[in-house]
Amino acid sequence: MGFPSVMLLMCLVVGLSTCRAEGEDNQIQVTETTEGEQENHLTETVASDTGSPEKACDPNIYMVLKELGALQERQEATARALEETNRKLEASEKKVDVLNSTLTEMRRTYEDQHQVAFSAAMPKEGTIGPVNVLYPLVYKHVLSNIGGHYSPVTGYFTAPVRGLYYFSFSSFCWAGDGTSGGSLYRNENKVVSWYGYSKTDPISGSNSAILLLQAGDMVNIRLWDGRKISDNGNKYSTFSGFLLSPM
Ligand SMILES: *[C@@H]1O[C@H](CO)[C@@H](O)[C@H](O)[C@H]1NC(C)=O
Repeated sequence: MGFPSVMLLMCLVVGLSTCRAEGEDNQIQVTETTEGEQENHLTETVASDTGSPEKACDPNIYMVLKELGALQERQEATARALEETNRKLEASEKKVDVLNSTLTEMRRTYEDQHQVAFSAAMPKEGTIGPVNVLYPLVYKHVLSNIGGHYSPVTGYFTAPVRGLYYFSFSSFCWAGDGTSGGSLYRNENKVVSWYGYSKTDPISGSNSAILLLQAGDMVNIRLWDGRKISDNGNKYSTFSGFLLSPM
């Protein structure tokens, strides 16, 4: 209730004063010049004598009432429009909530899938081998194991999702007591290897691979038949891997 109401009040006052001025020759007449919602112009015109006082008074009051009715209609229309807007807003808020929970869910899944990484160091102080079989190495000293997909009991990493994974390993062997060699295996398939022989110096070897794995694929390091690998507290021999990206 702002400007239009004030105008209406003025109309009423003017209308009444018109009634009071019934004896005068010149009368004040209120006319509406614009039908627009916010533009009700009050114009005062000096009219010539139009006859009896009643005839001059009644149309003004009628017009004021008409204006009141129009204002009421506009208010009702505004209220309806507001209700409609509120309904739309509520619907939008519901949609935002649904989108937000979907996004939260997706983010959680994404983070779960991306938090896959491990790093472990060799088994023990001393040397493993030679053994007359292909020997699965168990890197018992876990440095990190995000997602828990590396087992320090079996030495296997198991891919939780299909994706691109990076693996690396390093090996060490004391000098003079044989050769060192082994491979990284994906399930039962040899992928990359290391090999070394020296009578006088310690042997180091390393390799890495980026592999597209299926969920459930298993990766580990195996010492070749008759070869050796060593380590001590310095952690020379390690096996690490992480998920680059799910695919
Ligand atoms: C989205 O959801 C999270 C957690 O449920 C909440 O903290 C956050 O305020 C929500 N954001 C919006 C825009 O609703």
